[in-house]
Amino acid sequence: MPDILLVEDKESLRRVLRLTLENAGYTVTEAADARAALSQIARAPHKLVLTDLRMPNGSGLDVLRAARAADGEVPVIVMTAFGSIEEAVQGMKDGAHDFLQKPVDSNHLLLLVERALEHARLRTENILLREEWSRRYGFPRIIGESEAIKRTVAETQRVAQTEATVLLLGESGTGKELFALAVHHLSNRRDKPFVAINCAAIPETLIENELFGHERGSFTGASERRQGKFELASEGTVFLDEIGELPLAVQGKLLRAIEEKMIDRIGGRAPVPVNVRVVSATNRDLQTAVESGEFRRDLFFRIAVFPLEIPPLRERGDDIVLLAKHFAAQLGKELRGREASLSDTALAALRAHSWPGNVRELENAIERACILTDTMVLQPADLGLMRRGGEESEALRSIDLSGTLSEVGQRALRFVERGKIVEALKNNSGNKSLTAEELGVSYKTLLSKIKDYDL
Ligand SMILES: Nc1ncnc2c1ncn2[C@@H]1O[C@H](COP(=O)(O)OP(=O)(O)OP(=O)(O)O)[C@@H](O)[C@H]1O
Ligand SMILES: [Mg+2]
Repeated sequence: MPDILLVEDKESLRRVLRLTLENAGYTVTEAADARAALSQIARAPHKLVLTDLRMPNGSGLDVLRAARAADGEVPVIVMTAFGSIEEAVQGMKDGAHDFLQKPVDSNHLLLLVERALEHARLRTENILLREEWSRRYGFPRIIGESEAIKRTVAETQRVAQTEATVLLLGESGTGKELFALAVHHLSNRRDKPFVAINCAAIPETLIENELFGHERGSFTGASERRQGKFELASEGTVFLDEIGELPLAVQGKLLRAIEEKMIDRIGGRAPVPVNVRVVSATNRDLQTAVESGEFRRDLFFRIAVFPLEIPPLRERGDDIVLLAKHFAAQLGKELRGREASLSDTALAALRAHSWPGNVRELENAIERACILTDTMVLQPADLGLMRRGGEESEALRSIDLSGTLSEVGQRALRFVERGKIVEALKNNSGNKSLTAEELGVSYKTLLSKIKDYDL
C-alpha cells in the first residue's frame, strides 16, 4: 500500500511536499485536484491522506469525506490557509485527523504525518506484544499469545487513546501495574508523568497528604509546602493501586478530584485545578464493597468507566511457557551472566501448576531457580515444584525414567498434557471449542491431541 495520497492543486507546492515526504522515506501518490483525488481513493487505499482545502473540481472536504467513507480508519490531514476557519471546523466535524497551516513548515508536516501514522498503527496492531515497539519506547513487552491476553491487549489499546478512567481487575500478580503503564504509554499523555500510589501501603492518616499535598504550616511538622501525587502527575496519569483499600473519608475527596478536576491541599485556602487521567487497580471485589458500604457507589462508577479484566495465568495456556522462557533468559543473564533454559520436565511441571500468584509467582520461581541451578538448565526441583511431595510430584515420580533425558522429558510432557486436557474437558463439560480456548491451543490441535492421547 502506498503511504500517502497528496492532494494539492498548486504544482510547485505539490512538488516540494512530495520531495519532503519522499526524502523522509514515504511513498507518495499525487492528485492535482479533488476529482483526481476521488478517483485515486476509489482505485487504491493509502495509509494517510494529505489534502489542500480549496481546489478546483471540489474541495478538500470532499476528499476528506470520500477517504473516510472508503476507509473509516484512515487519517486525513487537511492543509488550511489563513481565513478558512469555517471550513476547518467543518473538517474537524467530518473526522479530519489534524490540520496543517499554510505556508507549510516541512518539519511540522513530517511530525504530523509521523504522529498520524503512528496513531493509526497503534489502533490496528497488537503493538504491546511487539518487541520492536518495546525497544523503541523502552516499555516492557507484554508477553503472551493466548487469545485471552490478545483480547486484553486489544482492549487496552482501544481505551488508552481515550480519556476514560480505567479500572484494572484481576488476581494478584496478573500484571495490573504493567497494564496501567501500558494505558499511559499508549495515550497522548505518554510524555507526561506516570505517578503510582499504592493505597494499601500508606497509613490511613497519611494518604490524603500523599494524594493531594499540603500547605506549609498546615500541621505540626509541615515545614514546607508539598505537592501531592495529583499535582506531580500534572497532565499525565495517576495510578491508584489497590484502590479498594482507600479509606471512606478520602474517597469523597478523590471523587471531587475526578469529577470537578479540583483538589484541596491540606491547609490550603483555595482549590487547585488538576488535569490527570486516573487509572486504578484492585484485586478486591469492589461491587461487594459497594454493597456493604465500604466503597462509595458514586466513586465506583467514576473510576470504572472502562473496566479491564486481566486474565489469570492459568487461563492463558501456553503463555506460561513463553513467559517462563523469557524470564529464564532475562533473569539468567542478570543473575548468572548467561541465559538459562528449561528442561522438558520443568516445562511440564510449569504447565501442570495452577499459579495462584500468577505471573509474579512464575517470575519468582524462575528467579529462584536461576540462583540455584548448577547447569543453567532449570529443573522442577530448582523451581520448587517438586518439593511439596503432593500429588503432582508423586505422579511425576511414577513416570518411567529409562532412556535419554529427552525421552523422559517427552514422556513427562505427554503425561502432564494428557492430565491437563482431561481436566479442561471436564471443566467445560466436554465442549471442545471452549476447552481449546482455555488451553490456548487451536481447535485442530486439541482434536489431534485428543486422538493422540486416546481420550
Ligand atoms: N504479560 C506479561 N509479560 C511480561 N511480564 C509480565 C506480564 N504480566 C506481568 N508481568 C510481570 O509480572 C510481574 C507482576 O506484574 P504486576 O506487578 O503488574 O502485577 P499486579 O497485578 O499489579 O500484582 P498485584 O496485584 O500483586 O499488585 C511484574 O514484574 C510484571 O512486569
Ligand atoms: Mg500491583
